[in-house]
Amino acid sequence: MLTRFLVLGLIGVASLWAQGSDQKAPPKKAKADAVNYYRDIEPILNANCVSCHQASMAAGGLRVDAPENLLQGGASGKAVIPGKAERSLLYTRLTVTTDKRMPPVGMVTEEQLALIRAWINLGAKIGPAPPKR
Ligand code: HEC
Repeated sequence: MLTRFLVLGLIGVASLWAQGSDQKAPPKKAKADAVNYYRDIEPILNANCVSCHQASMAAGGLRVDAPENLLQGGASGKAVIPGKAERSLLYTRLTVTTDKRMPPVGMVTEEQLALIRAWINLGAKIGPAPPKR
């Protein structure tokens, strides 16, 4: 658990550094695979966000019940800017200290925040859906 958190932290720092030094460098495959949408991001959204952000209640015009809806964004436009967590509402709205903080009640954990941040900074890839079990 802790190791995983540390690794994600390093990826975050590394991807920030990579952005600053060379915009065009493609992310290394190993790194891009470090965060998987279906394994790491979807469960966070399902547990903390989907109740208010789906078809019957799309608060702020945003739905996170399917990756294509998440990537489409909400009333304020795109919620995810691939490669730029600091400019992505999906990340910034989880870190603001005002009443704009999401979720409105409770909080995601530091590890979850690190996962979302890393996922966006690594390009917000969706990848193939896992086989149905
Ligand atoms: C209890 C209901 C509720 C939950 C749970 C919730 N939200 Fe929200 N969210 C809202 C409401 C209401 C708005 C619209 C008002 C506003 O922008 O603050 C909103 C707006 C947003 C917006 C801005 C959309 C736009 O385009 O303007 C984002 C991004 C967002 N939420 C992300 C999240 C994320 C990510 C989670 C889970 C970590 C989450 N929300 C959980 C109620 C909720």
